[in-house]
Amino acid sequence: MRLQNKTIIVTGANGGMGLETVKTLLQEGANIIACDINTNQLVMLENSKLTIYDGNLLDETHVQNIFSKTTEQYPKIDGLVNTAGIAQRATPIDDVSLDEWNKTMEINMTMLFLTCREAAKYMKKQQSGSIVTIASISAVRPRPGLQTYVASKGGAESFSRALAIELAENNVRVNTIHPGPCDTNMLQQFTAKEADSEVTKEEVFRKSVPLGKLLTPSDIAQSILFLLTEEASMITGAALNVDGGRGI
Ligand SMILES: NC(=O)c1ccc[n+]([C@@H]2O[C@H](COP(=O)([O-])OP(=O)(O)OC[C@H]3O[C@@H](n4cnc5c(N)ncnc54)[C@H](O)[C@@H]3O)[C@@H](O)[C@H]2O)c1
Repeated sequence: MRLQNKTIIVTGANGGMGLETVKTLLQEGANIIACDINTNQLVMLENSKLTIYDGNLLDETHVQNIFSKTTEQYPKIDGLVNTAGIAQRATPIDDVSLDEWNKTMEINMTMLFLTCREAAKYMKKQQSGSIVTIASISAVRPRPGLQTYVASKGGAESFSRALAIELAENNVRVNTIHPGPCDTNMLQQFTAKEADSEVTKEEVFRKSVPLGKLLTPSDIAQSILFLLTEEASMITGAALNVDGGRGI
């Protein structure tokens, strides 16, 4: 039980990586506040330590309510895990609409601002906390046609590093994970419009991983767990590549 009675807020908790993270952290004894705009998978998990919030995390009031209600329920907020995000279909820059750009930036970056700002308020008061944000190895090693997504994930990493230096004096750690291609529903959403997603998954994504396999949600959940624990107590401002070597 590496997180016995620690309280962790997880965004994107109904998604591939998010749901696996929720299950892993519950097994380690944590109280989980699971947030997503869809909750159909989460509601199937029956656990007295699981609280579910269904709603859009771009709604500032909704985000504020999640944090304030959590502090009524539990004495502290020990961790925030940001996994919520959206993909981009591989598209040449000249075909990307302003709406698509704005939507990606809102979900992959503005949402981080909203959740991290709330977390910082509470974690500064309690003088402790750990924030883990899922960015992407594509921020370091981009692919053609994913310019909007890559920019949003590069922003997520820079934002996390900026918070890491700002909140260090408050004993709040802020780290990023860069997953390689991971076998979730999102992976097929990176496929170009005219391409076959199964062929792309094998020929482009799987073959791009030096260790020869796609990542699994469990690979990511285990790295999130590590960054939340005391074993990582001197790690902040880091970007951990969990990518089977894709970033080399
Ligand atoms: N799958 C991959 O290959 C891969 C690789 C690198 C990075 N990532 C990143 O990992 C994270 C998790 O990805 P995943 O593969 O689990 O994807 P996923 O699509 O399975 O999960 C994303 C979750 O975010 C939620 N979400 C999106 N917008 C929301 C909003 N406005 N409010 C609340 N919830 C919202 C979705 O409902 C979904 O449950 C994402 O940030 C993604 O960009 C994924």
